Amino acid sequence: MKKHIVVIAGDGIGQEVTAVGKQVLDAIAKKYDHEFTYDTALIGHEAIEATGNPIPDETITKSKASDAILFGAVGHPKYDNDPSAKVRPEQGLLGIRKALGLYANLRPIKLFDELLSASSIKPEILKGADILFFRELTGDVYFGERGRKDDGDTAFDTMIYSRYEVERIVIKAFDAAMTRRRKLCSVDKANVLESSRLWREVVQEIAPRYPEVEVEHQFVDAAAMLLIKDPKRFDVVVTGNLFGDILTDEASQIAGSMGMLASASVGDTTGLYEPIHGSAHDITGKGVANPLASVLSVALMLDISFGMKEEANAVVDAVDSVLKAGFRTRDIADATTASDKILGTQAMGEQILQRLTA
Ligand code: NAI
Ligand code: MG
Repeated sequence: MKKHIVVIAGDGIGQEVTAVGKQVLDAIAKKYDHEFTYDTALIGHEAIEATGNPIPDETITKSKASDAILFGAVGHPKYDNDPSAKVRPEQGLLGIRKALGLYANLRPIKLFDELLSASSIKPEILKGADILFFRELTGDVYFGERGRKDDGDTAFDTMIYSRYEVERIVIKAFDAAMTRRRKLCSVDKANVLESSRLWREVVQEIAPRYPEVEVEHQFVDAAAMLLIKDPKRFDVVVTGNLFGDILTDEASQIAGSMGMLASASVGDTTGLYEPIHGSAHDITGKGVANPLASVLSVALMLDISFGMKEEANAVVDAVDSVLKAGFRTRDIADATTASDKILGTQAMGEQILQRLTA
């Protein structure tokens, strides 16, 4: 297959980890006889320095013309310490999501067995947990009407969803469930909220199109509890923007380290794939960043944007194999890790590549 990928490495360790992600793409192309072509584009601080704009038009144009985007991170200490800065790197990420209509944020929470001890949750509860979240990204209370009433002492935000907004993300979640364990949990608060009743109605309308998928509805408060009590009961979870925001942060604790978590933001056209972490100024340039979140973002790209399930599995298996062999970057190492097993960014990348070219 031919695919065109725009690589937007961005700031800080975004550059370091995305370089490894790109090498993984090259290895997959070679192994499975695909033709991947690349373009690069600027974003964030890097783009501000070069053009004055955190999201130059050229970046949007190139991204729109791509089959997928491999993204690194945005951010620079200069702005973190200056809240008044009008032009900021983060505007680059929000800008590209908006320009590309990326309304579904997917965050797989998969714990590799080797990292069981990295979590604060009991191993027997965590072992085998593998959840794929679909968080709606462009609606809900974050975009509804808001304001203050005349006296200024009363404030309101409006939780609002339209049928088409619910439909499009729910369909994506069902499609994903069909490629996994065929279980879908829709999370809402339909016992109280009208927008949640619409949400539930839409899920119930779409469900008959997917007779093989077992559907359940949970209220968000119960879902929050079940996520920690029994994470293994979940396969695909679909929910709105606010509930998804909270639940995915909670769920990230199931997977252990920041350096392991990948995400995908998708809409109707191209998808954007990125580690959930930021530009990590504290370790930038030291060559110690964990590249596995970027590598796992590549696996998501192969699976979701390109439908290359086997290739995606090969990448995930390579990560698993490297961890099984005892190799760790510093962030996932513990007292039992031998010093010769603690690798830098590029050496960890080499271990992955070896397994993909074997
Ligand atoms: P961060 O995610 O960059 O780092 C948090 C902590 O995790 C740091 O101690 C860092 O060293 C560590 N860490 C993160 N990724 C790692 C990796 N791959 N390997 C090893 N350790 C890793 O978040 P922080 O420090 O709050 O923000 C730094 C900058 O990144 C800020 O300018 C922030 O605005 C930006 N940011 C950007 C995001 C994005 O591009 N999506 C997301 C979050 C923050
Ligand atoms: Mg990122």
